[in-house]
Amino acid sequence: MNISKIIADKRKELGLTQQALAEKLNISFQAISKWENGTSCPDITLLPVLAAVLNVSIDSLLGYTSQSLTDYDKRYNREGYYWGLIPNNLCYEIMKLKPPTKPYKVLDIGCGEGKDAVFLARNGYDVTAFDISEQGLSKARELANCCGVKIDFFKADVRNFRLETNYDIIFSSGVFHYISKEQRESVIDNLKAHTFSNGINAINVFVRKPFIPLPPDVEESELAADNWKSGEIFMYYHDWLFRKNEEKIFDCNSSGIPHKHCMDVIIAEKI
Ligand SMILES: C[S@@+](CC[C@H](N)C(=O)[O-])C[C@H]1O[C@@H](n2cnc3c(N)ncnc32)[C@H](O)[C@@H]1O
Repeated sequence: MNISKIIADKRKELGLTQQALAEKLNISFQAISKWENGTSCPDITLLPVLAAVLNVSIDSLLGYTSQSLTDYDKRYNREGYYWGLIPNNLCYEIMKLKPPTKPYKVLDIGCGEGKDAVFLARNGYDVTAFDISEQGLSKARELANCCGVKIDFFKADVRNFRLETNYDIIFSSGVFHYISKEQRESVIDNLKAHTFSNGINAINVFVRKPFIPLPPDVEESELAADNWKSGEIFMYYHDWLFRKNEEKIFDCNSSGIPHKHCMDVIIAEKI
């Protein structure tokens, strides 16, 4: 993503007008407008203060944010499937709530190596899926080919990707902890707005509990991520019908060292 779009997106996420951002930087709002429409770029000496005001690193401002997230590329580069091939329980719950009596449109956000997207496609859903990891996507495409299903896979960053078409089911497992506090409302508002009536959002998100130690395979990007508060995801869906809302602590062995995670799980229906 280029710097013009990053500045515009971050400014809007923080609810700042071009004038308000200009005042914080002690420059004219016309300068901000030029940055955002790509006719000029911020002076290099302004980058530290601009990054601080927009609450991002200079790397992120320059579009290098995904660098550390490609830790997943390394995990997915190994043989086999890092997360296995057993579908997430949420997929079965989705099937109970919205059995595939017709090819419902599903979006899988942060699909990884595609186990859930492929499972849902094999069961008759019309699946679209994205992830930030090219390596994950390439394995997901391979899995879909092996299973003889067609899935529209593409690379995108959940933090700044915005939907333009509607879905019946929006699903995401183990991804939302990457969405910073400032981005959450805008990301979720977009998902809610692009869910058909009677459609569902089925999401789980890691929440940090003080009595659970950090996992041994925690990445730098996870450490830096703003942790979700227990119950926070439910608040974003207060105006939808809750089909499930649960907090669970579970064992994990993803790194070969047993550890625990705490996760909030929601299935909400748009009425
Ligand atoms: C814990 S894995 C879960 C993968 C998959 N949902 C599953 O359950 O098998 C987290 C996934 O989120 C992806 N991811 C991390 N940050 C992301 C971002 N900003 N946008 C999209 N995907 C992201 C990673 O590449 C990884 O595949």
